[in-house]
Amino acid sequence: MTPDSSGLMTSTPTRTAPLQEHIDRLIHELLASFPRPEHLSPDERRAIIARYTAVLEGNFIYWMTGTYLSVASEDAHSIILDNLREEVRDNHPGMLRKFAIAAHAVPTDSDALAVYRNLESVRRFVAQLSGVKILLMMAFFEGFIMKFMPYLADLATRQGSAEQEYTDVHGVCDVVHTQELFRALEAEMRLTPDPLPSPTRLLEGVGLLRALIQTIVHHRVEDPVHSRC
Ligand SMILES: [Fe+2]
Repeated sequence: MTPDSSGLMTSTPTRTAPLQEHIDRLIHELLASFPRPEHLSPDERRAIIARYTAVLEGNFIYWMTGTYLSVASEDAHSIILDNLREEVRDNHPGMLRKFAIAAHAVPTDSDALAVYRNLESVRRFVAQLSGVKILLMMAFFEGFIMKFMPYLADLATRQGSAEQEYTDVHGVCDVVHTQELFRALEAEMRLTPDPLPSPTRLLEGVGLLRALIQTIVHHRVEDPVHSRC
C-alpha cells in the first residue's frame, strides 16, 4: 500500500481513521488464520494458552507503561493512566494466571523459549519510546485481545476449565480501551509535525507484535521485516 492510496499521509482531523481501518483488517486476517480449536490436540490447545500467558502476564502493563512514558499530549497521558489503573486495580495479571492454572496451562520453560525471540523484538521496539508508533501497537494489541477472547475461552473450555473471568472481562472492557487508544493517537498525532513517518515505519511495532502473536498460536517464527503489514 502506498502512502497516497492509503490516505495515511493526510493531515485532516480524522487522519487516524485509515490507520484504524488498516489495523482492524490486520486483526481480522490474523484471527482468520488461526486453526479451529476442535482441530487441535489437547497438547496444542494447552500450548497456545501457555504461550499467550507467558507473553501477556508479565508484559502488558510494562508495555502500557512504556506507552505512557512515550507520549507527550495531556489527553494521551490521561487515557493511558486510566488503562493502567484498571489493569493494576483489578489485578489483570492475577486473573490471567488463574485462567492458565484452571486450564492446566501454566507456562513451562519450553513455552517461554518458544516466544523468546519475537518477544525480545517487541521489547527492543518498546525501548525506543516512540509515542505514535507504540500507541498504534497497543491499539492493535487491545483490539486483538478483545476479538481473541472467544477463541481463548473455547480452548480453555475444551481443556476442562470453567474459569472464564479473564476472557469475560477482556471481551468487554477492551472495546472501550481500543477506542480510547485511538483517541490518544489522534491527540498525539496533532503534536507530530507533518509529514508523518511513512506507513511502514508507523506500523513497525504492529508488525513485530503480529509476528509474536503468530508465534503464540502457530509456534512458527516469522521474520517481521518481511511480513506484510
Ligand atoms: Fe487487562
